[in-house]
Amino acid sequence: MERTFLMVKPDGVQRGLMGEVIARFERKGFKMIGCKFAQATEEQAAFHYAEHKEKPFFQELVDFITSGPVLAMVWEGDDIIQLSRTVIGKTKVHEAMPGTIRGDFALHTNRNVIHGSDSAESAEREISNFFSEAELANYKKLI
Ligand code: CMP
Repeated sequence: MERTFLMVKPDGVQRGLMGEVIARFERKGFKMIGCKFAQATEEQAAFHYAEHKEKPFFQELVDFITSGPVLAMVWEGDDIIQLSRTVIGKTKVHEAMPGTIRGDFALHTNRNVIHGSDSAESAEREISNFFSEAELANYKKLI
């Protein structure tokens, strides 16, 4: 079983897309194990986007992600990192296919509704940025 970090970004929150995003992942069959409505700090944003530190749009990313509340979530499922990126759609909005979250809702690459981890290493770092292990649910006792 794999875990990933998903985050409805400030544009998605302000456009009322939190329920839509959650519904798509629930319908796919994934399990939410953590959920936090939060305002990211500058430090959290910089840590979250550490791999983009040298990119020209890094400060724009940090400013945007701290500009309003986000919905930070941890989801669990087989191959969820790869599969959730298929549900989300490509980063560049002109490449995001209809039927994906970005394909259906995003108009601009820097306002693309949702973030999803791109590797197991990123997922662990991004999860630890918003959640402690004690805050994550455990379904293993369910029948
Ligand atoms: P995300 O999946 O959150 O990961 C990195 C983000 O950088 C990406 O979504 C985009 O929102 C953003 N991004 C990628 N390319 C650009 C760009 N050229 N200008 C601004 N933001 C970008």
